[in-house]
Amino acid sequence: MTIKDFVKTRKEELKVEFAKFKSVSKFVIVQMNEDPASEAYIRGKLKDGSELGVNVELRKFPLDFSHENLLNEIDKLNKDDSVTGFIVQMPLPKQIDEESVKLAISPKKDVDGFHPLSKLNPCTPQGIMNYLDHEHIDLLGKNAVVIGRSNIVGKPMAKLLLSRSANVTVLHSKTSFADMHRYLENADIIVVAVGKKHLIDDKFKFKKDAVIIDVGINRDEDGLKGDCINNLPVKLQTPVPGGVGLLTRLALYENLLKICKGEN
Ligand code: GUN
Repeated sequence: MTIKDFVKTRKEELKVEFAKFKSVSKFVIVQMNEDPASEAYIRGKLKDGSELGVNVELRKFPLDFSHENLLNEIDKLNKDDSVTGFIVQMPLPKQIDEESVKLAISPKKDVDGFHPLSKLNPCTPQGIMNYLDHEHIDLLGKNAVVIGRSNIVGKPMAKLLLSRSANVTVLHSKTSFADMHRYLENADIIVVAVGKKHLIDDKFKFKKDAVIIDVGINRDEDGLKGDCINNLPVKLQTPVPGGVGLLTRLALYENLLKICKGEN
Protein backbone atom coordinates (compact mmCIF):
# COMPACT_ATOMS: atom_id res chain seq x y z
CA MET A 1 0.00 0.00 0.00
CA THR A 2 1.33 3.51 -0.72
CA ILE A 3 2.25 5.68 2.25
CA LYS A 4 -0.53 8.11 1.32
CA ASP A 5 -3.17 5.35 1.47
CA PHE A 6 -1.69 3.86 4.64
CA VAL A 7 -1.78 7.25 6.39
CA LYS A 8 -5.31 8.04 5.15
CA THR A 9 -6.68 4.73 6.43
CA ARG A 10 -5.00 4.99 9.81
CA LYS A 11 -6.09 8.62 10.24
CA GLU A 12 -9.73 7.59 9.86
CA GLU A 13 -9.25 5.12 12.71
CA LEU A 14 -7.40 7.67 14.84
CA LYS A 15 -10.21 10.18 14.37
CA VAL A 16 -12.67 7.70 15.91
CA GLU A 17 -10.26 7.03 18.78
CA PHE A 18 -9.64 10.73 19.52
CA ALA A 19 -13.38 11.42 19.60
CA LYS A 20 -13.46 9.39 22.84
CA PHE A 21 -10.94 11.77 24.45
CA LYS A 22 -12.25 15.13 23.34
CA SER A 23 -12.13 16.77 26.76
CA VAL A 24 -8.45 16.02 27.31
CA SER A 25 -6.84 15.95 23.90
CA LYS A 26 -5.18 19.36 23.78
CA PHE A 27 -1.82 19.28 22.08
CA VAL A 28 0.60 22.23 22.20
CA ILE A 29 3.42 22.88 19.72
CA VAL A 30 6.16 25.19 21.01
CA GLN A 31 8.06 26.95 18.23
CA MET A 32 11.17 29.03 18.76
CA ASN A 33 12.69 29.12 15.28
CA GLU A 34 12.06 30.49 11.80
CA ASP A 35 13.27 27.35 10.09
CA PRO A 36 11.38 26.74 6.78
CA ALA A 37 11.37 22.94 7.27
CA SER A 38 9.89 23.40 10.79
CA GLU A 39 7.27 25.81 9.39
CA ALA A 40 6.25 23.16 6.85
CA TYR A 41 6.15 20.41 9.49
CA ILE A 42 4.09 22.56 11.84
CA ARG A 43 1.60 23.47 9.09
CA GLY A 44 1.20 19.74 8.44
CA LYS A 45 0.75 18.96 12.14
CA LEU A 46 -1.91 21.66 12.50
CA LYS A 47 -3.76 20.33 9.43
CA ASP A 48 -3.63 16.76 10.79
CA GLY A 49 -4.92 17.98 14.14
CA SER A 50 -7.96 19.61 12.58
CA GLU A 51 -8.67 16.50 10.49
CA LEU A 52 -8.39 14.27 13.57
CA GLY A 53 -10.53 16.50 15.76
CA VAL A 54 -7.62 17.28 18.10
CA ASN A 55 -7.33 20.72 19.60
CA VAL A 56 -3.81 21.89 18.63
CA GLU A 57 -2.33 25.15 19.86
CA LEU A 58 0.83 26.74 18.49
CA ARG A 59 2.85 28.79 21.00
CA LYS A 60 5.56 30.85 19.34
CA PHE A 61 8.39 32.45 21.26
CA PRO A 62 10.90 35.05 20.00
CA LEU A 63 14.30 33.90 18.75
CA ASP A 64 16.05 35.80 21.54
CA PHE A 65 13.96 34.21 24.32
CA SER A 66 16.33 33.05 27.09
CA HIS A 67 16.99 29.47 28.12
CA GLU A 68 15.42 30.15 31.55
CA ASN A 69 12.29 31.64 29.98
CA LEU A 70 11.85 28.63 27.73
CA LEU A 71 12.31 26.21 30.65
CA ASN A 72 9.75 28.25 32.55
CA GLU A 73 7.22 27.87 29.72
CA ILE A 74 7.91 24.12 29.62
CA ASP A 75 7.31 23.94 33.35
CA LYS A 76 3.95 25.68 32.90
CA LEU A 77 2.98 23.17 30.19
CA ASN A 78 4.03 20.26 32.41
CA LYS A 79 1.75 21.56 35.18
CA ASP A 80 -1.21 22.64 33.03
CA ASP A 81 -3.94 19.98 33.38
CA SER A 82 -5.68 21.22 30.23
CA VAL A 83 -2.63 20.17 28.16
CA THR A 84 -2.46 16.46 27.30
CA GLY A 85 0.89 16.61 25.58
CA PHE A 86 3.30 18.95 23.84
CA ILE A 87 6.41 19.15 21.72
CA VAL A 88 9.18 21.70 21.41
CA GLN A 89 9.99 21.95 17.72
CA MET A 90 13.69 21.52 16.91
CA PRO A 91 16.06 23.12 15.99
CA LEU A 92 16.37 25.71 18.74
CA PRO A 93 18.53 28.87 18.74
CA LYS A 94 22.15 28.69 19.94
CA GLN A 95 21.49 30.07 23.44
CA ILE A 96 19.22 27.09 24.17
CA ASP A 97 20.66 23.76 25.22
CA GLU A 98 18.48 21.20 23.36
CA GLU A 99 19.41 18.32 25.64
CA SER A 100 18.24 20.12 28.79
CA VAL A 101 15.01 21.08 27.00
CA LYS A 102 14.38 17.39 26.25
CA LEU A 103 15.01 16.55 29.91
CA ALA A 104 12.69 19.32 31.11
CA ILE A 105 9.64 17.92 29.28
CA SER A 106 7.67 15.61 31.57
CA PRO A 107 7.79 12.04 30.20
CA LYS A 108 4.01 11.99 30.86
CA LYS A 109 3.49 14.72 28.23
CA ASP A 110 6.41 14.06 25.90
CA VAL A 111 4.69 13.46 22.54
CA ASP A 112 8.09 13.36 20.78
CA GLY A 113 9.39 10.58 23.01
CA PHE A 114 12.65 12.51 23.48
CA HIS A 115 12.96 12.13 27.27
CA PRO A 116 15.14 9.15 28.28
CA LEU A 117 12.37 7.95 30.64
CA SER A 118 9.65 8.25 28.00
CA LYS A 119 8.01 4.98 26.97
CA LEU A 120 7.23 6.49 23.55
CA ASN A 121 9.65 6.51 20.63
CA PRO A 122 10.71 9.50 18.50
CA CYS A 123 8.16 10.00 15.72
CA THR A 124 10.23 9.55 12.54
CA PRO A 125 11.78 6.18 13.50
CA GLN A 126 8.48 4.97 15.03
CA GLY A 127 6.54 6.03 11.92
CA ILE A 128 9.01 4.12 9.74
CA MET A 129 8.70 0.99 11.91
CA ASN A 130 4.89 1.20 11.74
CA TYR A 131 5.04 1.31 7.94
CA LEU A 132 7.61 -1.51 7.67
CA ASP A 133 5.35 -3.65 9.85
CA HIS A 134 2.29 -2.74 7.80
CA GLU A 135 4.16 -3.84 4.66
CA HIS A 136 5.24 -7.07 6.43
CA ILE A 137 8.94 -6.32 5.94
CA ASP A 138 10.94 -8.98 7.74
CA LEU A 139 13.57 -7.54 10.11
CA LEU A 140 14.79 -10.50 12.16
CA GLY A 141 18.36 -11.37 11.12
CA LYS A 142 18.18 -8.96 8.15
CA ASN A 143 20.93 -6.50 7.25
CA ALA A 144 19.74 -2.99 8.09
CA VAL A 145 21.92 -0.01 7.19
CA VAL A 146 21.12 3.40 8.66
CA ILE A 147 22.93 6.33 7.05
CA GLY A 148 23.03 9.28 9.47
CA ARG A 149 23.53 9.37 13.23
CA SER A 150 21.34 12.26 14.41
CA ASN A 151 19.71 12.12 17.84
CA ILE A 152 16.23 12.55 16.33
CA VAL A 153 16.44 9.95 13.53
CA GLY A 154 19.64 7.91 12.97
CA LYS A 155 20.36 6.81 16.53
CA PRO A 156 16.79 5.97 17.61
CA MET A 157 16.19 4.27 14.22
CA ALA A 158 19.21 2.01 14.78
CA LYS A 159 17.97 1.21 18.28
CA LEU A 160 14.48 0.27 17.10
CA LEU A 161 15.82 -1.93 14.28
CA LEU A 162 18.17 -3.61 16.75
CA SER A 163 15.29 -4.19 19.17
CA ARG A 164 13.70 -6.22 16.35
CA SER A 165 16.86 -8.30 15.90
CA ALA A 166 18.08 -6.79 12.62
CA ASN A 167 21.86 -6.70 12.00
CA VAL A 168 22.28 -2.95 12.24
CA THR A 169 25.11 -0.88 10.75
CA VAL A 170 25.20 2.89 11.17
CA LEU A 171 27.09 4.85 8.48
CA HIS A 172 27.76 8.58 8.64
CA SER A 173 29.66 11.53 7.18
CA LYS A 174 33.04 9.97 7.94
CA THR A 175 32.23 6.69 6.14
CA SER A 176 34.16 6.36 2.87
CA PHE A 177 32.21 5.97 -0.37
CA ALA A 178 33.93 2.64 -0.95
CA ASP A 179 32.64 1.32 2.38
CA MET A 180 29.19 2.76 1.72
CA HIS A 181 29.08 0.79 -1.54
CA ARG A 182 30.09 -2.39 0.28
CA TYR A 183 27.44 -2.04 2.99
CA LEU A 184 24.60 -1.01 0.69
CA GLU A 185 25.24 -3.88 -1.70
CA ASN A 186 24.46 -6.34 1.11
CA ALA A 187 21.64 -4.43 2.77
CA ASP A 188 18.04 -5.62 3.05
CA ILE A 189 16.72 -2.42 4.65
CA ILE A 190 18.35 0.97 4.06
CA VAL A 191 17.32 4.10 5.94
CA VAL A 192 18.88 7.27 4.54
CA ALA A 193 18.70 10.28 6.88
CA VAL A 194 21.53 12.59 5.88
CA GLY A 195 19.97 15.70 4.35
CA LYS A 196 22.02 15.64 1.13
CA LYS A 197 20.06 15.73 -2.12
CA HIS A 198 20.47 12.56 -4.20
CA LEU A 199 23.40 11.23 -2.16
CA ILE A 200 22.27 7.73 -3.09
CA ASP A 201 22.04 7.22 -6.84
CA ASP A 202 22.30 4.47 -9.44
CA LYS A 203 26.07 4.19 -9.01
CA PHE A 204 25.27 2.02 -5.99
CA LYS A 205 24.31 -1.64 -6.33
CA PHE A 206 21.38 -2.98 -4.31
CA LYS A 207 19.76 -6.31 -3.58
CA LYS A 208 16.69 -6.45 -5.79
CA ASP A 209 14.50 -7.17 -2.74
CA ALA A 210 15.95 -4.29 -0.73
CA VAL A 211 13.73 -1.68 0.95
CA ILE A 212 14.88 1.95 0.92
CA ILE A 213 13.43 4.48 3.34
CA ASP A 214 14.32 8.03 2.29
CA VAL A 215 14.12 10.45 5.22
CA GLY A 216 15.76 13.36 3.34
CA ILE A 217 13.85 16.55 2.69
CA ASN A 218 16.01 18.83 0.56
CA ARG A 219 14.50 21.92 -1.02
CA ASP A 220 15.75 23.01 -4.44
CA GLU A 221 14.43 25.36 -7.17
CA ASP A 222 11.78 22.91 -8.28
CA GLY A 223 10.54 21.44 -5.03
CA LEU A 224 11.43 18.83 -2.42
CA LYS A 225 14.06 16.20 -3.17
CA GLY A 226 15.05 13.15 -1.17
CA ASP A 227 18.49 11.87 -0.22
CA CYS A 228 17.98 9.23 -2.95
CA ILE A 229 17.19 9.55 -6.65
CA ASN A 230 13.78 8.19 -7.65
CA ASN A 231 13.13 4.71 -8.99
CA LEU A 232 16.13 2.84 -7.66
CA PRO A 233 15.99 -0.86 -8.67
CA VAL A 234 14.65 -2.23 -5.36
CA LYS A 235 11.44 -3.81 -4.04
CA LEU A 236 10.20 -0.72 -2.20
CA GLN A 237 11.43 2.89 -2.02
CA THR A 238 9.57 5.62 -0.15
CA PRO A 239 8.91 8.78 -2.19
CA VAL A 240 9.81 12.40 -1.36
CA PRO A 241 7.55 14.29 -0.91
CA GLY A 242 4.65 12.13 0.25
CA GLY A 243 6.80 9.66 2.18
CA VAL A 244 8.46 9.69 5.59
CA GLY A 245 7.16 13.19 6.42
CA LEU A 246 3.62 11.79 6.44
CA LEU A 247 4.68 8.80 8.55
CA THR A 248 6.30 11.13 11.10
CA ARG A 249 3.17 13.23 11.41
CA LEU A 250 1.04 10.12 11.83
CA ALA A 251 3.35 8.72 14.52
CA LEU A 252 3.10 12.01 16.41
CA TYR A 253 -0.67 11.56 16.75
CA GLU A 254 -0.23 7.86 17.55
CA ASN A 255 1.99 8.99 20.45
CA LEU A 256 -0.56 11.60 21.55
CA LEU A 257 -3.28 8.93 21.56
CA LYS A 258 -1.09 6.69 23.73
CA ILE A 259 -0.77 9.59 26.19
CA CYS A 260 -4.56 10.06 26.17
CA LYS A 261 -4.90 6.37 27.00
CA GLY A 262 -2.26 6.57 29.75
CA GLU A 263 -0.04 4.09 27.92
CA ASN A 264 3.13 6.17 28.24
N1 GUN B 1 12.47 18.75 14.07
C1 GUN B 1 12.60 17.82 13.08
N2 GUN B 1 11.95 16.69 13.40
C2 GUN B 1 11.40 16.90 14.62
C3 GUN B 1 10.62 16.09 15.49
O1 GUN B 1 10.29 14.93 15.23
N3 GUN B 1 10.25 16.68 16.67
C4 GUN B 1 10.61 17.94 17.00
N4 GUN B 1 10.21 18.42 18.18
N5 GUN B 1 11.34 18.71 16.22
C5 GUN B 1 11.73 18.19 15.04
